[in-house]
Amino acid sequence: MHARAKLDDATMVTERGDKGLLRFLTCGSVDDGKSTLIGRLLYETGQIYEDQLATLERDSKRHGTVGEDIDFALLVDGLEAERQQGITIDVAYRFFSTPKRSFIVADTPGHEQYTRNMATGASNSELAVILIDARKGVLPQTKRHSYIASLFGIRHVIVAVNKMDMTGFDKAVFDAIIEEYLAFAQGLGFDSITPIPLSARFGDNVSERSARTPWYDGPTLQQRLESVDAQSSLQAQPFRFHVQWVNRPDQSFRGYSGTVASGSISVGDKVVVAASGRESRIARIVTFDGDLQTAHAGDAPTLVLADEIDVMRGDVLAKAESRPEVIDQFSAHVLWMTDQPLFPGRPYLMKIGARYLPAQVTELKHKIDVDTLEHLAGKTLELNEIGLANLSVSQPVAIDPFRENPTSGAFILIDRFTNATVGAGVIEHGLRRATNIHYQQVLVDRAARERLNGHRAAALWFTGLSGAGKSTIANLVERELHARGVRTYLLDGDNVRHGLNRDLGFAPADRVENIRRVGEVAKLFVDAGQVVLCSFISPFRDERRMVRELFDPGQFLEIFVDAPIQACIDRDPKGLYKKALAGEIKNFTGLDSPYEPPEQAELVVNSGGLTPSAAAEAIIADLEARGLI
Ligand code: ADX
Repeated sequence: MHARAKLDDATMVTERGDKGLLRFLTCGSVDDGKSTLIGRLLYETGQIYEDQLATLERDSKRHGTVGEDIDFALLVDGLEAERQQGITIDVAYRFFSTPKRSFIVADTPGHEQYTRNMATGASNSELAVILIDARKGVLPQTKRHSYIASLFGIRHVIVAVNKMDMTGFDKAVFDAIIEEYLAFAQGLGFDSITPIPLSARFGDNVSERSARTPWYDGPTLQQRLESVDAQSSLQAQPFRFHVQWVNRPDQSFRGYSGTVASGSISVGDKVVVAASGRESRIARIVTFDGDLQTAHAGDAPTLVLADEIDVMRGDVLAKAESRPEVIDQFSAHVLWMTDQPLFPGRPYLMKIGARYLPAQVTELKHKIDVDTLEHLAGKTLELNEIGLANLSVSQPVAIDPFRENPTSGAFILIDRFTNATVGAGVIEHGLRRATNIHYQQVLVDRAARERLNGHRAAALWFTGLSGAGKSTIANLVERELHARGVRTYLLDGDNVRHGLNRDLGFAPADRVENIRRVGEVAKLFVDAGQVVLCSFISPFRDERRMVRELFDPGQFLEIFVDAPIQACIDRDPKGLYKKALAGEIKNFTGLDSPYEPPEQAELVVNSGGLTPSAAAEAIIADLEARGLI
């Protein structure tokens, strides 16, 4: 009856083209009567078998909360119970149909900690039923649900004011709620908002028009669900085709398989590859059931082009006159979906359309209080928080603002170590600021400088706890290299934090930025032909990996200065552990801020067991063995 929604391998948006099918989302909590409403809909539309009904009647008498009546909530509450037991059900989908239409209803839990699930449900739905308890009126959660629904692409809203029976079907109560709701929701940009007074428990205005609301002349819930025109929007958008794979069984055939994300395409139409601008015409539209003349949003054909042009997996095909923007920076709303916070500057993998590529948040503009829509300052996003951010990707990609085209305007962010989906985003607009900047060709390059210096350039990255001996050892290594005529420079955490990184503290987000900047500086030194020694705690493996990836293989050596925390506490060269243990310094590495030891450092020196000069000698010997000096 229900399936677990998988975000991990899918983009937030799936095809919405099927005619006659409406996907909708119910938002509200159990107390608002959400389960009762869904149960009532299933019942009224004849989805419940005789035997189920008999069981339901029996259970209602035994466990129900509504006297002699059938408790429809019991139909769907099994799921709620599973949730309460901590069994994760992200989104439950139910299927039902009427003679006019079939429906998939996504039932998502309403509490704040389930924002992620609601976003998943919303991104797969065209309409949201926002439940309001007539006795309670518009609550913070009503606003939260509406905001998330609008952000993740819901175009149509039904405001179901439930439990009207408990307010005597009072028109004034209904009107006041709707007035308040509209004042808030007007700014959210929905195409339609339909208020309906109803009672899920007694069935008023669910499928049958109620005699108890003579003042209401709008549709019943079922009528509105049947009539809403939710299909047209993607059809009406410009044509976008995401190439999932290049289909080339033999020399005679070459086609591009993927999905028509929006718009339509016909044989003979001119198309362009968005990223390269190369043009061709559609020669054939091939499907399992034979060729088509035209393919529409939601279809998944194989396109054959008239010319042999370069098209790769992940490319987007568009019509020449309405192309997506191709850009490597954009602004987007990001929903964070994992316990480990989002840090600007940290590298993630982005899946956008059919492409995967490295991406990072360059700036978090603000967070959004989803209950009040207020903008809040913040350096990170925590689980279930939403913020407006600037992002950059490693190569230009084809994008559309999400409002204009949900398929090429949505992305997910993936953790590069665990492969878990950690965030989802919707694009607001491209950022043009980094265009017109190109790499300047230089006449003297690194190789030339290395020749002049008589040695290769490299970055020696010392990582480890504060007080482990990184700086002491790095100093000795530098002195020895210098004595041998090697051009060196030592970048040290404490020193760099007095200048370039004076604005940064020790919160995780600051450490991420600290290492990002130092990595870039180290890269400049290597480009200058020097051996740069970097001595930073650099506690997170993500950033150490990011710095490593700035260099060619062999240019970056990670040296783990490994010392037990107790040894560092005992040594305490700057008296900082003492202060931290006394609670005077917060976020101290190894105490209340984590250190993630390297897994594949080029060299590990155990500073507990070696004197600093012995450790330095071991490193020099290693550099000789590598042919670096
Ligand atoms: S990193 O974590 O961002 O890589 P970095 O190496 O630049 O840190 O700076 C670490 C130095 O700052 C330590 O050696 C110590 O002298 C000092 N320091 C001050 N506060 C802290 C803290 N909360 N945690 C760790 N080091 C701190």
